[in-house]
Amino acid sequence: MTESTIQPDSMIEMIKVSKVYPPDVKALSSISLSIDRGEMFFLIGMSGAGKTTLLKLLCNMETPTNGLIEVAGHQIHQLKGAKLAKIRQKIGVAYQDFKLLDNRTVAENIAISMEVSYKKPTIIKKRVRDLLDQLLLSDKHDTMAGELSRGEQQRVALARAVANSPTLILVDEPTGNLDSTTTARVMNLLNKCNHAGATIIIATHDESIYRNSQHRILELREGKIFSLQGGSPS
Ligand SMILES: Nc1ncnc2c1ncn2[C@@H]1O[C@H](COP(=O)(O)OP(=O)(O)OP(=O)(O)O)[C@@H](O)[C@H]1O
Ligand SMILES: [Mg+2]
Repeated sequence: MTESTIQPDSMIEMIKVSKVYPPDVKALSSISLSIDRGEMFFLIGMSGAGKTTLLKLLCNMETPTNGLIEVAGHQIHQLKGAKLAKIRQKIGVAYQDFKLLDNRTVAENIAISMEVSYKKPTIIKKRVRDLLDQLLLSDKHDTMAGELSRGEQQRVALARAVANSPTLILVDEPTGNLDSTTTARVMNLLNKCNHAGATIIIATHDESIYRNSQHRILELREGKIFSLQGGSPS
Protein backbone atom coordinates (compact mmCIF):
# COMPACT_ATOMS: atom_id res chain seq x y z
CA MET A 1 0.00 0.00 0.00
CA THR A 2 1.49 3.30 -1.06
CA GLU A 3 -1.56 5.42 -1.84
CA SER A 4 -2.65 8.03 0.66
CA THR A 5 -5.67 7.85 2.85
CA ILE A 6 -4.81 11.23 4.39
CA GLN A 7 -5.88 14.78 3.44
CA PRO A 8 -5.51 15.51 -0.30
CA ASP A 9 -4.27 19.09 0.34
CA SER A 10 -1.25 17.93 2.20
CA MET A 11 2.18 17.68 0.57
CA ILE A 12 3.90 16.25 3.65
CA GLU A 13 2.49 14.08 6.40
CA MET A 14 4.77 12.85 9.16
CA ILE A 15 3.26 10.75 11.89
CA LYS A 16 5.35 9.89 14.97
CA VAL A 17 8.56 9.83 12.96
CA SER A 18 11.83 8.99 14.69
CA LYS A 19 15.33 8.66 13.35
CA VAL A 20 18.13 6.95 15.21
CA TYR A 21 21.56 6.86 13.57
CA PRO A 22 23.48 3.74 14.56
CA PRO A 23 24.42 2.93 17.16
CA ASP A 24 22.26 5.23 19.27
CA VAL A 25 22.15 8.87 18.08
CA LYS A 26 18.54 10.01 18.44
CA ALA A 27 18.35 12.65 15.72
CA LEU A 28 14.54 12.93 15.64
CA SER A 29 11.95 11.71 18.15
CA SER A 30 8.27 11.24 17.45
CA ILE A 31 7.77 14.11 15.00
CA SER A 32 4.20 14.59 13.75
CA LEU A 33 3.76 17.30 11.18
CA SER A 34 1.59 18.22 8.24
CA ILE A 35 2.65 20.68 5.51
CA ASP A 36 0.15 21.82 2.88
CA ARG A 37 0.69 21.91 -0.85
CA GLY A 38 1.94 25.37 -1.79
CA GLU A 39 3.13 26.23 1.71
CA MET A 40 6.48 27.88 2.48
CA PHE A 41 7.74 26.48 5.76
CA PHE A 42 10.78 27.31 7.89
CA LEU A 43 12.67 24.79 9.97
CA ILE A 44 14.90 26.29 12.64
CA GLY A 45 16.87 25.13 15.66
CA MET A 46 20.39 24.92 17.00
CA SER A 47 23.16 22.98 15.33
CA GLY A 48 22.44 19.27 15.80
CA ALA A 49 18.70 19.81 16.39
CA GLY A 50 17.75 17.52 13.49
CA LYS A 51 16.90 19.92 10.62
CA THR A 52 19.02 18.25 7.95
CA THR A 53 17.88 14.81 9.09
CA LEU A 54 14.26 15.83 8.65
CA LEU A 55 14.92 17.09 5.10
CA LYS A 56 16.85 13.91 4.24
CA LEU A 57 13.90 11.78 5.34
CA LEU A 58 11.59 13.76 3.05
CA CYS A 59 13.74 13.16 -0.04
CA ASN A 60 14.44 9.52 0.79
CA MET A 61 18.15 10.04 1.46
CA GLU A 62 17.59 8.54 4.89
CA THR A 63 14.92 6.12 6.08
CA PRO A 64 12.95 6.66 9.28
CA THR A 65 13.57 4.30 12.19
CA ASN A 66 9.88 4.54 13.15
CA GLY A 67 6.75 6.28 11.96
CA LEU A 68 5.00 7.13 8.72
CA ILE A 69 6.03 9.67 6.09
CA GLU A 70 3.93 10.59 3.08
CA VAL A 71 5.11 12.92 0.35
CA ALA A 72 2.49 14.00 -2.20
CA GLY A 73 0.30 11.13 -1.07
CA HIS A 74 2.95 8.43 -1.33
CA GLN A 75 4.79 6.59 1.39
CA ILE A 76 8.09 7.29 -0.33
CA HIS A 77 10.07 4.84 1.77
CA GLN A 78 7.89 2.02 0.44
CA LEU A 79 8.42 2.96 -3.23
CA LYS A 80 11.06 1.45 -5.46
CA GLY A 81 12.36 1.70 -9.02
CA ALA A 82 10.45 3.79 -11.56
CA LYS A 83 7.76 4.89 -9.09
CA LEU A 84 10.33 6.22 -6.67
CA ALA A 85 12.28 7.90 -9.51
CA LYS A 86 9.12 9.63 -10.71
CA ILE A 87 8.36 11.13 -7.30
CA ARG A 88 12.02 11.94 -6.71
CA GLN A 89 12.10 13.98 -9.96
CA LYS A 90 9.45 16.25 -8.49
CA ILE A 91 11.58 16.99 -5.42
CA GLY A 92 14.38 19.55 -5.75
CA VAL A 93 16.99 19.53 -3.00
CA ALA A 94 19.70 22.09 -2.22
CA TYR A 95 21.97 20.24 0.18
CA GLN A 96 23.78 21.87 3.08
CA ASP A 97 27.08 20.57 1.65
CA PHE A 98 25.99 21.43 -1.94
CA LYS A 99 26.95 18.09 -3.59
CA LEU A 100 28.01 19.77 -6.85
CA LEU A 101 30.07 18.02 -9.51
CA ASP A 102 33.35 19.90 -9.05
CA ASN A 103 34.74 19.01 -12.50
CA ARG A 104 31.66 20.20 -14.39
CA THR A 105 30.80 23.78 -15.21
CA VAL A 106 28.20 25.77 -13.33
CA ALA A 107 25.83 25.53 -16.32
CA GLU A 108 26.27 21.74 -16.55
CA ASN A 109 25.58 21.32 -12.84
CA ILE A 110 22.33 23.27 -13.11
CA ALA A 111 21.23 21.55 -16.32
CA ILE A 112 21.49 18.06 -14.84
CA SER A 113 18.08 18.04 -13.18
CA MET A 114 16.45 19.15 -16.44
CA GLU A 115 18.31 16.70 -18.67
CA VAL A 116 17.04 13.71 -16.71
CA SER A 117 13.51 14.74 -17.58
CA TYR A 118 14.37 15.18 -21.27
CA LYS A 119 13.81 18.93 -21.59
CA LYS A 120 14.81 20.49 -24.92
CA PRO A 121 18.38 21.91 -25.01
CA THR A 122 17.12 25.40 -25.93
CA ILE A 123 14.75 25.43 -22.95
CA ILE A 124 17.51 24.20 -20.65
CA LYS A 125 19.96 26.88 -21.86
CA LYS A 126 17.45 29.65 -21.36
CA ARG A 127 16.46 28.44 -17.89
CA VAL A 128 20.11 28.13 -16.80
CA ARG A 129 20.92 31.69 -17.96
CA ASP A 130 17.80 33.04 -16.34
CA LEU A 131 18.60 31.39 -12.99
CA LEU A 132 22.22 32.57 -13.07
CA ASP A 133 21.01 36.09 -13.76
CA GLN A 134 18.56 36.00 -10.84
CA LEU A 135 21.27 34.73 -8.50
CA LEU A 136 23.94 37.23 -9.64
CA LEU A 137 26.09 34.49 -11.16
CA SER A 138 25.91 35.29 -14.89
CA ASP A 139 29.69 35.58 -15.18
CA LYS A 140 30.19 32.05 -13.75
CA HIS A 141 28.30 30.15 -16.46
CA ASP A 142 31.42 28.33 -17.72
CA THR A 143 33.40 28.18 -14.48
CA MET A 144 34.14 24.78 -12.95
CA ALA A 145 32.00 24.34 -9.84
CA GLY A 146 35.07 23.36 -7.81
CA GLU A 147 36.60 26.80 -8.43
CA LEU A 148 33.73 28.73 -6.89
CA SER A 149 33.55 30.32 -3.46
CA ARG A 150 31.23 28.69 -0.92
CA GLY A 151 28.63 31.40 -1.37
CA GLU A 152 28.69 30.86 -5.14
CA GLN A 153 28.46 27.08 -4.79
CA GLN A 154 25.53 27.52 -2.45
CA ARG A 155 23.63 29.49 -5.09
CA VAL A 156 24.48 26.99 -7.85
CA ALA A 157 23.10 24.23 -5.61
CA LEU A 158 19.90 26.25 -5.24
CA ALA A 159 19.65 26.89 -8.98
CA ARG A 160 20.05 23.16 -9.65
CA ALA A 161 17.36 22.37 -7.07
CA VAL A 162 14.75 24.66 -8.64
CA ALA A 163 15.71 24.39 -12.35
CA ASN A 164 13.21 21.71 -13.25
CA SER A 165 10.33 23.47 -11.43
CA PRO A 166 9.81 20.71 -8.84
CA THR A 167 6.59 20.65 -6.81
CA LEU A 168 8.54 20.20 -3.56
CA ILE A 169 11.74 22.16 -2.89
CA LEU A 170 13.91 21.34 0.14
CA VAL A 171 16.63 23.84 0.91
CA ASP A 172 19.19 23.35 3.65
CA GLU A 173 20.85 26.59 4.81
CA PRO A 174 20.43 28.51 1.55
CA THR A 175 21.90 31.81 2.79
CA GLY A 176 24.56 30.85 5.34
CA ASN A 177 27.49 32.22 3.31
CA LEU A 178 25.78 35.20 1.70
CA ASP A 179 25.64 38.99 2.14
CA SER A 180 22.28 40.73 2.47
CA THR A 181 21.93 41.67 -1.22
CA THR A 182 22.57 38.13 -2.40
CA THR A 183 20.36 36.73 0.37
CA ALA A 184 17.53 38.89 -0.98
CA ARG A 185 18.07 37.42 -4.47
CA VAL A 186 17.90 33.89 -3.08
CA MET A 187 14.69 34.63 -1.20
CA ASN A 188 13.18 36.34 -4.28
CA LEU A 189 13.80 33.22 -6.30
CA LEU A 190 12.31 30.95 -3.62
CA ASN A 191 9.29 33.24 -3.26
CA LYS A 192 8.77 33.11 -7.03
CA CYS A 193 8.85 29.32 -6.98
CA ASN A 194 6.39 29.36 -4.08
CA HIS A 195 4.02 31.74 -5.89
CA ALA A 196 4.18 29.42 -8.89
CA GLY A 197 2.82 26.67 -6.62
CA ALA A 198 5.85 24.86 -5.20
CA THR A 199 5.88 23.71 -1.60
CA ILE A 200 9.13 24.93 -0.03
CA ILE A 201 10.82 23.85 3.18
CA ILE A 202 13.80 25.90 4.29
CA ALA A 203 16.14 24.81 7.10
CA THR A 204 18.01 27.84 8.35
CA HIS A 205 19.95 29.59 11.09
CA ASP A 206 19.47 32.93 9.33
CA GLU A 207 16.90 34.85 11.33
CA SER A 208 16.77 37.62 8.73
CA ILE A 209 14.94 35.38 6.26
CA TYR A 210 12.12 34.26 8.56
CA ARG A 211 11.83 37.07 11.14
CA ASN A 212 9.16 39.06 9.30
CA SER A 213 7.62 36.24 7.33
CA GLN A 214 3.98 35.22 7.48
CA HIS A 215 4.90 31.58 7.04
CA ARG A 216 4.98 28.84 9.66
CA ILE A 217 8.19 28.29 11.59
CA LEU A 218 8.97 25.00 13.29
CA GLU A 219 11.68 25.00 15.94
CA LEU A 220 13.38 21.70 16.65
CA ARG A 221 15.28 21.12 19.89
CA GLU A 222 17.25 17.93 20.36
CA GLY A 223 15.18 16.16 17.73
CA LYS A 224 11.79 17.18 19.11
CA ILE A 225 9.25 19.82 18.14
CA PHE A 226 9.86 22.74 20.52
CA SER A 227 7.44 25.20 18.92
CA LEU A 228 5.39 25.71 15.79
CA GLN A 229 4.49 29.33 15.15
CA GLY A 230 3.18 31.48 12.41
CA GLY A 231 0.42 32.25 10.06
CA SER A 232 -2.07 30.21 8.23
CA PRO A 233 -0.71 28.21 5.31
CA SER A 234 -0.66 30.31 2.14
N1 LIG B 1 25.02 10.24 9.23
C1 LIG B 1 24.98 10.42 10.54
N2 LIG B 1 25.44 9.47 11.39
C2 LIG B 1 25.36 9.64 12.71
N3 LIG B 1 24.85 10.73 13.32
C3 LIG B 1 24.39 11.70 12.54
C4 LIG B 1 24.41 11.61 11.11
N4 LIG B 1 23.88 12.75 10.59
C5 LIG B 1 23.52 13.50 11.64
N5 LIG B 1 23.82 12.88 12.81
C6 LIG B 1 23.54 13.39 14.16
O1 LIG B 1 22.14 13.62 14.24
C7 LIG B 1 21.87 14.80 14.96
C8 LIG B 1 21.07 15.77 14.08
O2 LIG B 1 21.92 16.20 13.00
P1 LIG B 1 21.43 17.14 11.83
O3 LIG B 1 22.50 17.18 10.82
O4 LIG B 1 20.08 16.69 11.40
O5 LIG B 1 21.29 18.55 12.59
P2 LIG B 1 21.05 20.02 12.03
O6 LIG B 1 19.92 20.61 12.83
O7 LIG B 1 20.90 19.98 10.56
O8 LIG B 1 22.39 20.76 12.43
P3 LIG B 1 23.18 21.99 11.68
O9 LIG B 1 22.43 23.23 12.05
O10 LIG B 1 24.55 21.94 12.30
O11 LIG B 1 23.20 21.72 10.22
C9 LIG B 1 23.20 15.34 15.42
O12 LIG B 1 23.43 14.87 16.74
C10 LIG B 1 24.18 14.72 14.46
O13 LIG B 1 25.45 14.57 15.04
MG1 LIG C 1 21.97 20.79 9.01
